[in-house]
Amino acid sequence: MEDKWSRWGLDLHLRPGAGRGLRAGLEHALRDAVRSGRLPPGTRLPSSRTLAHDLGISRGTVTQALDQLVAEGYLESKSRSGIRVAPRPAAPPTETTQPSPVTLPPVRGIDLRSGFPDLAAFPRREWLAATRHILQTAPNTALGYPDRTGTIELRQALAEYLGRVRGVITTPAHIVICAGYAHALRLVCQVLHHHIACAGMFAFEDPTEPDYPRLVEQMGHRARRIAVDRDGLIVEALTNETAVVVTPAHQYPLGVTLSSARRVELVSWARRADGFIVEDDYDGEFRYDRQPVGALQGMAPDRVIYVGTTSKTIAPGLRLAWLVLPSSLMIPLREATRWDESYVNVIDQLVLARLIQTGELDRHVRRCRTRYRRRRDLLGKAVTRQLPHGRLFGIAAGLHAVLRLPADADLEVPLLGYLAERGILVEGISSFYHRPEESPLALVIGYATPADHAYSSALSALINALRERMPGDNAAGCGRWES
Ligand SMILES: Cc1ncc(COP(=O)(O)O)c(C=O)c1O
Repeated sequence: MEDKWSRWGLDLHLRPGAGRGLRAGLEHALRDAVRSGRLPPGTRLPSSRTLAHDLGISRGTVTQALDQLVAEGYLESKSRSGIRVAPRPAAPPTETTQPSPVTLPPVRGIDLRSGFPDLAAFPRREWLAATRHILQTAPNTALGYPDRTGTIELRQALAEYLGRVRGVITTPAHIVICAGYAHALRLVCQVLHHHIACAGMFAFEDPTEPDYPRLVEQMGHRARRIAVDRDGLIVEALTNETAVVVTPAHQYPLGVTLSSARRVELVSWARRADGFIVEDDYDGEFRYDRQPVGALQGMAPDRVIYVGTTSKTIAPGLRLAWLVLPSSLMIPLREATRWDESYVNVIDQLVLARLIQTGELDRHVRRCRTRYRRRRDLLGKAVTRQLPHGRLFGIAAGLHAVLRLPADADLEVPLLGYLAERGILVEGISSFYHRPEESPLALVIGYATPADHAYSSALSALINALRERMPGDNAAGCGRWES
């Protein structure tokens, strides 16, 4: 919980449940932010409506907390300019030159790491309404032990949704509900172990999220990396691996898409090598310049193991994902899950099924798409205007973009340290490469993470810090997107 609150743009370290009510917690956090200087005098606070929305608490609670701080003199309210942080009273004369024993908390809070959606956009109202509906209507038997592959209601809803939205060809019987992508990948490792009756070799894209090859190795298989170019994975580098794990819709983290020629090549490889393609469709719903390219699974349901997740469309905290398996892996799946029970609690599964059936998930994704497209455009404009030597990389999709910078990779550590000192959390790309020392200097910018009202200031802070740091980027110029 703390993470969510502290990610809020004005950096309130709000800890609900720490022995205070929400209102008292918000008051305490605001006082603390003003006293410590994290909210300097003159800072204009977002409207109570925006704060209430982003913090997920009622507007009345926010208004009461703000009124209290106005009364205490921390904030001032002017009818036209809203609520601002009040000027600080003159400091009392110092009696000693000894350093103060009180150290201010470090500035934290501008979170531009990739991997998160905007958590303030969680469809609370819709989730609540669907939960109420499920609790009012589900028969008692629904609360018993569910099928170990997940509830039939969710698998049915997903078969329809994935077919319609991602072009996946499947039936409810081929779907397994999992507790997130990493869990699905672990299950794939077990299933393929049963299928080939020994440990296998998994190929991963290079760059990739480094935890996944590690996880596969931990599960007893071997893992290797294969380079990615502008058309995605270089398929001709595959040999006779058991499986290749790819992100065809939006390569993670580079942001390219797997070209149509490479898709055909990849499926041919799988047929020839008797291998499987694991399609990680982590952000496939978010495409901004055209209809999303359909899932690779639709080209070869017999060779592609498809994995989707709610971690980008709704929230990673749900731990709700799904695996779509080819028919040939259903018996190994039964072996792999013989001693398991369903991984995700039934009520959450039924709620998600309801959101899909009522069209609420589609509406939510549409709203998010508009929001993220706007943020991506703002990022593009900021780079074009203010970082002439920067190059944004990646198709118009997803929740992150790669910003290439004109310097050597060995500048990455000092650059990230410099940004962190300014409270800006962002990832460098090198850790995604098998050989980090050979990677370009680039940042992976997650533009979905800050709350909506805090995004512009987060972006300005990043761009300003980069302008201070990058030589030659102090004039307007022609930074641009490449894909
Ligand atoms: C490449 C990639 N795949 C999948 C996921 C989703 O993981 P999970 O469903 O475990 O949250 C992520 C999350 O950041 C990711 O970066």
